[in-house]
Amino acid sequence: MYSQGMWLPNELLEQETNMKSKGMTMSASDIYSINSGSLKDAIVHFGGFCTGEVISDQGLVLTNHHCGYSAIQSHSSVQNDYLKNGFWAKSFSEEKPNEGLFVDFIVSIDDVSESIQNFIAKGLSQNEAIDSFIQVNPAIGKGMRSEIKPIYFGNQFILIVSQRYSDVRLVGAPPSLIGKFGADTDNWVWPRHTGDFSFFRIYASPDGSPAEYSPENIPLKTKNPLTISLEGVNEGDFSLIYGFPGRTSNYLPVNEVSQQIDVLLPIRVELREIILDKWDSAMRINPVVKIQYASKYASVSNGWKKWKGQIEGIEASYGIDTLKKRQERMINYHSANNKNAFVAVDQLERFNNQTESLENARKSLIYFQEILRNWELLTWSRLANNIVRLSDEGKDLKGALRALIEFEKNYNPELDRRSSRSLVQNWLSAGEKDTLLTVPIDYINETNSFLQGLFSPALYKSLPIGIAELDANFIADSCRNHLAFDLWPDLLNRYRSLLMKTNKLEKDFQSGMKEWMSLYLSSVDEGENIFAPDANSTMRVSYGLIGGFSPRDGANYNHNTTTEGILEKYIPGDYEFDLPQNFKKTLENREFGRYADNDGQLSVCFIAANHTSGGNSGSPALNSKGHLIGLNFDRLWEGTMSDFYFTTQRCRNIMVDVRYIMWVVDKYANANRLIEEMRFAD
Ligand code: ARG
Ligand code: ASP
Repeated sequence: MYSQGMWLPNELLEQETNMKSKGMTMSASDIYSINSGSLKDAIVHFGGFCTGEVISDQGLVLTNHHCGYSAIQSHSSVQNDYLKNGFWAKSFSEEKPNEGLFVDFIVSIDDVSESIQNFIAKGLSQNEAIDSFIQVNPAIGKGMRSEIKPIYFGNQFILIVSQRYSDVRLVGAPPSLIGKFGADTDNWVWPRHTGDFSFFRIYASPDGSPAEYSPENIPLKTKNPLTISLEGVNEGDFSLIYGFPGRTSNYLPVNEVSQQIDVLLPIRVELREIILDKWDSAMRINPVVKIQYASKYASVSNGWKKWKGQIEGIEASYGIDTLKKRQERMINYHSANNKNAFVAVDQLERFNNQTESLENARKSLIYFQEILRNWELLTWSRLANNIVRLSDEGKDLKGALRALIEFEKNYNPELDRRSSRSLVQNWLSAGEKDTLLTVPIDYINETNSFLQGLFSPALYKSLPIGIAELDANFIADSCRNHLAFDLWPDLLNRYRSLLMKTNKLEKDFQSGMKEWMSLYLSSVDEGENIFAPDANSTMRVSYGLIGGFSPRDGANYNHNTTTEGILEKYIPGDYEFDLPQNFKKTLENREFGRYADNDGQLSVCFIAANHTSGGNSGSPALNSKGHLIGLNFDRLWEGTMSDFYFTTQRCRNIMVDVRYIMWVVDKYANANRLIEEMRFAD
């Protein structure tokens, strides 16, 4: 039986035998249960974009440093640079509230497919059916929410009841040189030594119910926090990841995957390389640019590296061949069945036509998306348009001006001019080579002469920068009168009209996926589900064995790394591999106490064959007994194609070893009060 996949926690019973055969000693109901306490009670959707877990009975939450990054950043200033130096609250009163940050607990997950199908049978659309159901079954209670999510492209529907707590405070974070050690160079890469963790705390009103921030709020009393294991991990051990993976596409018809890998992702990669190249050279020679562009660089590079890994990984693992075989097996199964003989073949033919006819539009959209995102002059134009609109409506400009100031702080117009000139040149020449691409060549050429060149240095020099403190009318007029003012609305409109044109075809494609998925589901024998549903930001469980693998001939990856590797990677003064001096000394003392491995080393990160995706960051890694052994934060570059095709031969998720986290908290940060409130396994 397959162990790949992200399973719904309420349907884990089907996986129990397989999980036990891999070493699990607990039962499915220890993981998820609504009638008694289970591990589920400790897992939270952190801010809607990451996962977190409760690790004390006072609402203490563990998640990644990169998940807490913007919260940490928002409390940082030149005097108190928590990103640089780390932050450890010494008491409850020092814990820092974060406007807009929330966590969701899952109360229950139920299959409501029958009710929804009944509504649909009465003639309602899927969305209308969902709305009608929620109207009849509203969530009751403070912070309670009900949501229906389609599973298997609408072959199944689940009702998720959750409870939101909106007072979530920052408790602790290591310096970035620990929490982001290795930064972009090491991102998606093994061997890894990043201490990617931070701590938050959930607060509630004195009666325990959810409440917006108030000084009267108290730490939430939590019934079933996770237990931490300092026992350590070994090659071949069972592990389980509990969290909220965002999106996977594991059942696309093979031609769709090929189009992604051969046509679409390479365009994204090429366009991002142009930007990364230019930014990197500037960052290397200019320390101001380095600070200004570090965070933007990280985000452009995160996607770039993942896609590159997907392209290479599919090839190296012969993924297309395997997917083709799986597809053929399904089609043959139905072809042998008189009733359904041609359904699958016909659907595949429809898909293949759609894939082909969508190709040019999809390519065009990608150029638009990458250019709208990375040509920073467009961002200026967007923010300037916002200011002018608010000013014309007589509204308060404060928020919009703050956004402009933030943008200007990290903007180097000359660098943008050079990098986006290459970007747009690439776009134009693609449009000249391939006339089916919807590149607005006329518009750019026209605008070019009208503005005396979109890329003339004068245009960038003349941007009204640094005027946000002046009179509001003056600011609005300076924005309005600048030649680049219309760039954003113009290009956005062109992008949107292109999107409208493809909408119908993409929708047809999606409705085909419902049929396609049901053909997969009905192509296996009763009682054996080998098709885990694609991720869609709902709560899931993945399981797999801890262990390394051979990424290429003659090379081998161990299942874990140790602090020795941190010292090996150390480069004094480097922005990615420097170390805080007191931390380096603590490391060199090698006093690891109860956190040490059997051989006296301190384990830092480890890998396992768990199927995870974006959104699983901050997920707990649990051992066979359900104890916390690590914190998920990344995958290996070689296996990022797991979003399309997962194989235990190459796909690995990366976790920080909980013993490293606890050692840093205990021995480096001296945050004993946190250690004291946690529960450790005997
Ligand atoms: N690759 C991980 C993920 O996709 C971590 C990203 C954050 N770190 C970074 N250097 N950009 O989210
Ligand atoms: N780093 C990702 C996240 O932030 C996890 C992944 O893509 O594996 O969710």
